[in-house]
Amino acid sequence: MGFASFFSNQARKPTGLFGRFVASQIFKKGNAEMNAFIHESLPIGDNDHVLEIGFGPGELMHAMARRVPNGRIEGVDFSDTMLAIAQRRNRHHIRAGKVKLHRGDFDAMPFDGRRFDTIISVNTVYFWPQPEATIAKIAGLLKPGGCLAVGFHEKADMQDSNLSRDVFRFYSPRDMEALLATCGAFKTIETISRKGKTKDLYCAFGTK
Ligand SMILES: C[S@@+](CC[C@H](N)C(=O)[O-])C[C@H]1O[C@@H](n2cnc3c(N)ncnc32)[C@H](O)[C@@H]1O
Repeated sequence: MGFASFFSNQARKPTGLFGRFVASQIFKKGNAEMNAFIHESLPIGDNDHVLEIGFGPGELMHAMARRVPNGRIEGVDFSDTMLAIAQRRNRHHIRAGKVKLHRGDFDAMPFDGRRFDTIISVNTVYFWPQPEATIAKIAGLLKPGGCLAVGFHEKADMQDSNLSRDVFRFYSPRDMEALLATCGAFKTIETISRKGKTKDLYCAFGTK
């Protein structure tokens, strides 16, 4: 396996020492700007029930927990390595019952009902093998009026990177809006963006 392939697979599902010490630091530092953008742009209320798909080191949910004094945040990630790091980072919120973390592949998780006000996924959409099915599952888990937020870097900025196309799927803002539209469940779909230091930051919103 070449380095591009190894690194891309670690970005998709961090494991072992590389995941624990290298990937986690790359996510924490490299994605801080994107996570801050999503955090500032999210319409979250005091009582909201939020789900984050692919929480990685758990930085975004740590920041969000303060914004839902009467609500709670659940997260799902299929990396044992990230789960352990996010558990440590959010230990106080977990103890207080504010944050609950699940280990598993979102596509296979037995979540049921329309129970979330907001579902967020940041820098994870690239890895979804059947994105239309994942979006449909998300839409089914949102309450009426609920909102999906997908944070991503766009295709034009990612195309030249040394990342494996077997692992990553890149989206333009238009591709992302088209993907969100496939489920037919969102009344409004819009994308916002902000200039980033090296790559621009995008967030696509779908509101039910
Ligand atoms: C590139 S990292 C992004 C982490 C974090 N959201 C951030 O912005 O720093 C992608 C994360 O999504 C997780 N992931 C990818 N596909 C997933 C899936 N289908 N179900 C659950 N977790 C997934 C990986 O384990 C990894 O922690």
